[in-house]
Amino acid sequence: MDLLKDKILKDGIALNSEVLKVDSFINHQVDVNLMKEIGIEFANYFRNKNITKVFTIETSGIAPAVFTSLELNVPLVILKKQNSKILNDNFYTTEVKSFTKNTTYNLTLSKNYIDTNDNILIIDDFLANGEAAKGAIKLIENANAKVAGIGIVIEKAFQPGRNFLEASGYDIYSLARIKSLDNTKINFID
Ligand code: G4P
Repeated sequence: MDLLKDKILKDGIALNSEVLKVDSFINHQVDVNLMKEIGIEFANYFRNKNITKVFTIETSGIAPAVFTSLELNVPLVILKKQNSKILNDNFYTTEVKSFTKNTTYNLTLSKNYIDTNDNILIIDDFLANGEAAKGAIKLIENANAKVAGIGIVIEKAFQPGRNFLEASGYDIYSLARIKSLDNTKINFID
């Protein structure tokens, strides 16, 4: 998506060869006009897949997911990173390890917001190692619902997330695929 790539080149900062800082338009301040266009782009790609719900993971997946669900006219469900103390039998839960942040959290989903007829589009801001996406998939499949596809705003293609998810047969649509961040230079896969 050229609009997004131009924005990344203009305002993104390669902190090092692994991490792209996009605080000024995705992770902290949010460019809602860009998010709206991103939502339209995801919706157009997945429109004929009979999506029943959009799922995302708090926090930074929420903005692009809102506009995608609005455009597809389906509910949005936010998977939460919750403290295990509040969990009970009414939740699906799975542990997710973040290699980038070196943290572990419980990703949770209330059983009230999914059923076996659901065909779900997962939207997230970054795909790195794929752990968050794997966690979301696990919750959906534990509920015997289907994953219709995965929409990613920024994919770090030099990390293994896509390979694993593709090998498992999921349809991944990334709007910007980063080949490398070496020497503070941002390179895309065309
Ligand atoms: P994975 O899910 O693909 O395995 O990614 P990983 O655990 O490595 O990433 C954990 C968190 O770090 C996620 O945010 C992810 O969006 C973010 N992240 C990964 N790589 C980058 C990067 O290059 N730049 C930025 N800005 N973020 C990155 P999170 O903890 O879920 O945070 P948030 O959604 O609450 O903001």
